[in-house]
Amino acid sequence: MLDRGHFPSRKAVLYRTLICGLALLGTAVEVLGTVQDGTILQGPIGHGVEWVTMIGLSLDLILQAWNVVVFRHPGESGFTVWRRHQFGLFGLIDMLAVLPFFLAELEALPEDWRTVFGVMRFLKLARYSPALETVGSVLRRESRPLQSAVFIMALLMLSSSTALFLVERGVNPRSFGSIPQSMWWSVVTLTTLGYGDVVPISNLGKLLGGMTALLGVGMFALPASIMATGFAEEVKRRDFLSVWHMVAKVPFFAGLDAEQIASITSLLRVVSAAPGDVLIREGDIGDRMYFIVNGLVSVDFGGKPVVLKDGEFFGEIALLHNSPRTATVTARSRCQLLTLAVQDFHDFIQGSPRIGEAMARTAQQRLSEQEHLEDPVL
Ligand code: CMP
Repeated sequence: MLDRGHFPSRKAVLYRTLICGLALLGTAVEVLGTVQDGTILQGPIGHGVEWVTMIGLSLDLILQAWNVVVFRHPGESGFTVWRRHQFGLFGLIDMLAVLPFFLAELEALPEDWRTVFGVMRFLKLARYSPALETVGSVLRRESRPLQSAVFIMALLMLSSSTALFLVERGVNPRSFGSIPQSMWWSVVTLTTLGYGDVVPISNLGKLLGGMTALLGVGMFALPASIMATGFAEEVKRRDFLSVWHMVAKVPFFAGLDAEQIASITSLLRVVSAAPGDVLIREGDIGDRMYFIVNGLVSVDFGGKPVVLKDGEFFGEIALLHNSPRTATVTARSRCQLLTLAVQDFHDFIQGSPRIGEAMARTAQQRLSEQEHLEDPVL
């Protein structure tokens, strides 16, 4: 059977859009509800909209729970599966998006809590976006450098606020009367915010203040740069992993060892095609070849088109023979493909001659099929 796992169905996309829309609307009602001089989403209209969103999100809560219970592994207890789901991260988010609203309607929850949980409905979007998961894994991976950066920041804050307390307390007791009071100035200066509500007035205090500000520019940027690098690496790692999974679906790569798989994974690019997209046109110069991860393509070279499916490849003949494309290849369904550029193709088959030979055999067979068609009498 065709594996279409990578493409959510149209219904799934519609459902996802509906739930995200309801979550956004629910959040908007709560946020605009705090505006003093009335907006359209306040009063009875806002209340009505909130009821509609809450009914929709409650149905989603029930459907999500029903889904995990119905599709549980055989032998697992329905209650255990439900409990694990409902008290896991996404189950809790689903529950907290709706439950506080109904409790507040029953006057069992103070209004402020209703606002807090109402705004948190925004988290419902996390189910459909990898953002939270990515932040979590970046924090875990970069925990050591982040800990060092936090230690240095705390040290700078403590030493600068102590120094300013000692220098300024006599002339400026209202702002620097104690170390905790000076800390506010330290945080504002080190983070380069500089509100200007608290400033040193003695010359030595100003000198120390200037030095603190300069140190702040360098040191407080550290966690941001650690996170930025961590994010870039995480995204690259995820891309690599997703291509790795796709490579595993192409039987042609089955005989490769781990090192060869890693090398081909870094050379391949993922592309998608919609039904009707022309991927290769007969007579064109060949610049890449394709592996089908999932989907169907049709190869047209005059007679009855040949259909290629998951795990097969095409576009190798032009690269192997340094000749124009011998056929036109069109996507028949939505396809997920891996492409290998011409230079990488030659490097790769040089490193894996067995694969090169197998590919050349397939190319030869395909060419002879084309010749048969051109000369049916033979
Ligand atoms: P290329 O000539 O580079 O571009 C068109 C591709 O269609 C070709 O490489 C083959 O990969 C593929 N192709 C050509 N003939 C056949 C065939 N008979 N059966 C399957 N695929 C083919």
